[in-house]
Amino acid sequence: MTGTRRTALVTGASRGIGRAIARRLAEDGYDLTLSSRDTDALRAVAKELGQLGVRTEVAPADMAAEDDVRRVADVHRAAYGRLDALVLSAGVGSSAPLGGYPLRRFDKQFAVNVRAPFILIDACLDLLRETAELAPETGTKIAAISSVTASAPEPGLSAYGASKAALVALCEAVNTEASADGVAATAICPGYVDTDMSAWMHDRIAPTEMITSEDIAELVLALTRTSRRAVVPHLPVVRAGSELWRA
Ligand SMILES: NC(=O)c1ccc[n+]([C@@H]2O[C@H](COP(=O)([O-])OP(=O)(O)OC[C@H]3O[C@@H](n4cnc5c(N)ncnc54)[C@H](OP(=O)(O)O)[C@@H]3O)[C@@H](O)[C@H]2O)c1
Repeated sequence: MTGTRRTALVTGASRGIGRAIARRLAEDGYDLTLSSRDTDALRAVAKELGQLGVRTEVAPADMAAEDDVRRVADVHRAAYGRLDALVLSAGVGSSAPLGGYPLRRFDKQFAVNVRAPFILIDACLDLLRETAELAPETGTKIAAISSVTASAPEPGLSAYGASKAALVALCEAVNTEASADGVAATAICPGYVDTDMSAWMHDRIAPTEMITSEDIAELVLALTRTSRRAVVPHLPVVRAGSELWRA
């Protein structure tokens, strides 16, 4: 049965940017499906966000496993019957120079950062289109967390940047197929954000100089509020300072 409350499916919701986005959407009244591999962490987030008065479902999944990814879409549809925002935040990064780059690391990054978003978008698009008919002002949204390295490469991040560039291209393609039906996709492309993922850079960039997860969450919320007439294909977010396009 289709509910009247807005809902979002958030991957990578156990920590970092995905968790901040889930919280910001919950504060705005979204019921949520939360996914990552860590069931205990997801339950803790669900409990915390449930205290804001929203419904939360937990859908543990390894984004590198196709069946898991499809199950997440099934869990959300069965629970809510509508999908207003699909947030793709699960991601992995692995830095190593070219000239012997381990191919299994390339494969893992493409599996989690590109293949899983592709499968989830494919599996959710009908529901996003159906829900867009119920939300005539805004339509429905896909927000994928890409990276500034998609367009501004960094040494060591060739596979990561390539995977994130593919994610940008995926969002652009979704817009050509679905934006006329009210489904708009945005690839958000941040520089370093202060999370577990960027901790390896702390010797070079202080966490206090990094973008905050809450900044990204605020932008996702803003995207959910734009009219269905506007499409934001990609959105760079860079750190303050003199090297704006460095991650
Ligand atoms: N932090 C940055 O500087 C930065 C900059 C630009 C873009 N990004 C992108 O932003 C997104 C979120 O990153 P973050 O900074 O929040 O990193 P994070 O704190 O390391 O969180 C990563 C999230 O992805 C999930 N995840 C990782 N591998 C997974 C897998 N195989 N299956 C399912 N879930 C998986 C993790 O959950 P579990 O471990 O519980 O599975 C976690 O919730 C990523 O796509 C990242 O590439 C980050």
